[in-house]
Amino acid sequence: MNRVVNSMQEKQGVDAGLASKVVNLCQRRGIIFPSCEIYEAHAGFFDYGPLGVQLKRNVENNWWNAFVTSREDVAGIDGAIVSPKALWKASGHLDSFNDPLVECRKCGLRSRADHLVEDELKINVDGLSTAHLQRLIDEHKLKCPKCGGELLPVRAFNLMFKTRVGAAGGEADEAFLRPETAQLIFADYKLVQFVSRKALPFGIAQVGKAFRNEIAPRNFVFRCREFTQMEVEYFVHPAKLDDCPLLSADLLDKKMVFYSQEDQEKNAEPKTLSLREALDRKMIGTRWHAYWLAVCVDWLQSIGLTPSRLRLRQHTREELSHYSSETWDVEYEYPWGWKELMGIANRTDFDLKQHAKASGKELCYYDQAANQKVVPFVIEPSLGVDRLVFTLLLDAFHEKGEGGNARIVLSLSPKIAPVLVSVFPLMKKDGLAEKARDVFLDLKRQGFAAEYDESGSIGRRYARADEAGTPYCVTVDYDSLKDDSVTLRDRDSGKQERLAVKDLPQVLRKKALI
Ligand code: GAP
Repeated sequence: MNRVVNSMQEKQGVDAGLASKVVNLCQRRGIIFPSCEIYEAHAGFFDYGPLGVQLKRNVENNWWNAFVTSREDVAGIDGAIVSPKALWKASGHLDSFNDPLVECRKCGLRSRADHLVEDELKINVDGLSTAHLQRLIDEHKLKCPKCGGELLPVRAFNLMFKTRVGAAGGEADEAFLRPETAQLIFADYKLVQFVSRKALPFGIAQVGKAFRNEIAPRNFVFRCREFTQMEVEYFVHPAKLDDCPLLSADLLDKKMVFYSQEDQEKNAEPKTLSLREALDRKMIGTRWHAYWLAVCVDWLQSIGLTPSRLRLRQHTREELSHYSSETWDVEYEYPWGWKELMGIANRTDFDLKQHAKASGKELCYYDQAANQKVVPFVIEPSLGVDRLVFTLLLDAFHEKGEGGNARIVLSLSPKIAPVLVSVFPLMKKDGLAEKARDVFLDLKRQGFAAEYDESGSIGRRYARADEAGTPYCVTVDYDSLKDDSVTLRDRDSGKQERLAVKDLPQVLRKKALI
């Protein structure tokens, strides 16, 4: 087992310490692990086991509920994964969706230029251009990290996976696995707007797989080659980007840490400001963009991420994607530094205009009041589920006790924990197991994510539940047989309370806010 974990960490480039411990736990409990482990598979692909898939699904469902079901202005789609070359030519991905690649002249090792510079010089390289990276490599005479050989000049490497559709095999059959879910939303924009009868402003959301042929997948599922994205493309009238009725006083008063383009250029520190102050200082270009920044940070906190480990960093001018006029990343303080957890971009009218031009189809919106056609602007909150799941695990991971007595506790929010409640009989004998199974099956029937565990001492069962992130444990003991009561233990406080079996569902719902 250790060999597998060590080699995985080597292969995925995971830092020592907290990240290693979480990766180790994921492997040992089968939460997330490298795909196809019985073969020598490519790095950057992962499978989710029983606990992992439930955690991931809970996160997706919570997001879908917050960003789609509970809102009247967002509709959902589920687009295809394989799409024609024409789509990716028009979106700009064929020409611009590149990472900077350096290759060793001697051993042929290929590395990501920005990662190489970051690792060797221990500096933050976010936002540096290819020319800037080349300058740093030349100035510091950086060499191949494997054999010390000369490096060839930095060049662009396109990240899309190419495939062919059908048997003919001509150029017209070339297709690509989508590197972002967003483009299907733009391609479907007209139809979805029509069938959902949405007026501007409105959003189209999607949760689905994306694929990127990353040069160097690393840090476990933080950067992988196959991952799931949750994206909203929010369409706003181009003349009404500052007309945001949803920007409530609560959101405007929300304090967050902002690291603006200007402060990064001046080497100044990030600032803690309310959203209102950030808008007054003209840090954020439009009020609709400001609204989505606050909504996203709010949601990330609502599912358990520690507020002080989140900040908003604006992309520098050099760093902006080809489609964006302004992007803010929600960054998390990872063991390997502040890095992007999600991005919130102003994509302007770039995508709709590009697809209209390339397809010859009109992709606009008829503004009845003004009796004119407009091309909406788009604000896009975009988030990787796998990266978020890993972040939630890192955030929730604690060790209680010391040395040989140290126990792992995953303090996952009850809103996303894969198992909400574990049910134990104190002993297997004297009818306790039968009684505990009745309690367990009744909880299952009522839709609770419950588990039954009768093996090992009670202490071991608590420990097993704690490291799976299970918030509540129910123990059936001899008193239960007399008065139909059980003990409910809270993972985080360790407190135990006695309650009637009939009250259990109601108490659990209240505690877990579900
Ligand atoms: N539609 C915009 C877009 O795709 P992005 O910043 O390239 O923007 C959005 O990706 C989010 O997708 C990231 O913030 C991250 O959460 C996730 N993501 C991107 N590349 C990833 C990778 N290789 N592995 C895991 N998650 C990734």
